[in-house]
Amino acid sequence: MTDQTSPADPFGFLGLTYDDVLLLPGYSDLAPSDIDTTSRLTREISLKIPLLSAAMDTVTESAMAIAMARQGGLGVLHRNLSIEDQAQQVDLVKRTQTGIITNPVTIGPDATLEELDTLAGQFRISGFPVVDLENKLIGMVTNRDLRFTPVAEWATTKVDEVMTPQPLITGPSTISRDDATLLLRKHKLERLPLIDPDGRITGLITVKDFVKSEQFPDSSKDGQGRLMVGAAIGYFGDSWQRATALIEAGVDVLVADTAHGNVRMLIDMVRRLKTDPATKDVQVIGGNVATRQGAQAFVDAGADAVKVGVGPGSICTTRVVTGVGVPQITAVYEASLACKPAGVPVIADGGLKHSGEIGKALVAGADSVMLGSLFAGCEETPGDLVLVNGKQFKTYRGMGSMGAMSSRGKKSYSKDRYFQAEVTSDDKIVPEGIEGQVAYKGPLSTVAHQLIGGLHQTMFYTGARTVPELQANGRFIRITSASLKESHPHDVQMTVESPNYSGF
Ligand code: XMP
Repeated sequence: MTDQTSPADPFGFLGLTYDDVLLLPGYSDLAPSDIDTTSRLTREISLKIPLLSAAMDTVTESAMAIAMARQGGLGVLHRNLSIEDQAQQVDLVKRTQTGIITNPVTIGPDATLEELDTLAGQFRISGFPVVDLENKLIGMVTNRDLRFTPVAEWATTKVDEVMTPQPLITGPSTISRDDATLLLRKHKLERLPLIDPDGRITGLITVKDFVKSEQFPDSSKDGQGRLMVGAAIGYFGDSWQRATALIEAGVDVLVADTAHGNVRMLIDMVRRLKTDPATKDVQVIGGNVATRQGAQAFVDAGADAVKVGVGPGSICTTRVVTGVGVPQITAVYEASLACKPAGVPVIADGGLKHSGEIGKALVAGADSVMLGSLFAGCEETPGDLVLVNGKQFKTYRGMGSMGAMSSRGKKSYSKDRYFQAEVTSDDKIVPEGIEGQVAYKGPLSTVAHQLIGGLHQTMFYTGARTVPELQANGRFIRITSASLKESHPHDVQMTVESPNYSGF
């Protein structure tokens, strides 16, 4: 396959997608415990499971990002919200399930219980160190302390009237995990504040987070033990401010989120992010592209990974509205021709319908996959459950749909994803996506279990112990539409729904 169609044969370049191919079975001598799905996300980050949740406003906000990182994948926070709100979402993830919270939210002794309650709701946390003006620890206050004061008195009661004052059990800033566990157990503590020799607060350990970090052994964590999170950025208007605000909030990966990434302004922005001393340490993913040349431009700009997909998504109408796109298996393969020699990982974004397509994407040249529709039905995605004819659904819409790009209800921040930043009137929008719904599927943990279970089986059938082995040894066979019919259940009426198959 080649990136260039030949002038002599303008239709010679054949594009294939997931349903056009299968993987050949191979000799296998593996026990289930041998299989390791760890894969590279970027030049510097590896994930235990090669799954990303899409940067879409019906898929990834903080709850989904937390769930994804706990499972060992990564959530990419969407950008259809203000810079401050998106940065706060990063902060919410970073404050969750960490071994040690290094910059705990604190409160002053003169704050009212009403302010305490607001702060608890804003950060979704239940206990705060109380500090004086020099940041010295003078007490601890929790939601529980609120319960003993009538709500009518919250506005006039101050934190220092209800807090547990010093002396408290505290630990030194440098405490080890084992010593902290001993202290928490010995004193049956919910929270252990950490202080420096001058009594200033430097950290907080909560027993809940300690237990959680044991429950999620595969979770994706940064160097400080905090959950990892990605966030989407554009390249128009205030995108640089967005990128720097996200970095300040602690984001691990910035993900260029645009339908067509092979544009000068974005490539320049990626180059600037990877060279500016203030931003160069954060991982930056370029995209979306669907050709070798598009991927090469991001490799040359210093991107840490390249995301591939123009029009394969379940809610996308880009290919029919514009006539442009590349079938996804071919697009991933073409991009990998530019990325592999440079050691830059590839992300296959969109178009996956079943778990078997994860392995196909990896063999075609991807290192991880980004999923929208397969995750949109999870409990942790934004939006309420909708009941239709007794069945539960969740809303799922394209970021290029009318709903996401119009000002219907609220301001749209992501129109530039579709080159329409300057369109001011809703009736002038040219959508490239649709709005719909998907069946409710329960918690992400069960959905991810089925998807990764499918990948495990792919690796067993192909005899691959690791993802690099699968990538190196996996072989495709091209199939016909008759074979595709044979692949799916046929000639039987399905009577019981399967957790990993909902139909053709
Ligand atoms: P799936 O197939 O997993 O696809 O639901 C998710 C991916 O689709 C992209 N996306 C869009 N593409 N119009 C498009 O052409 C849209 O409105 C749209 N919204 C999302 C995006 O790359 C996402 O990760």
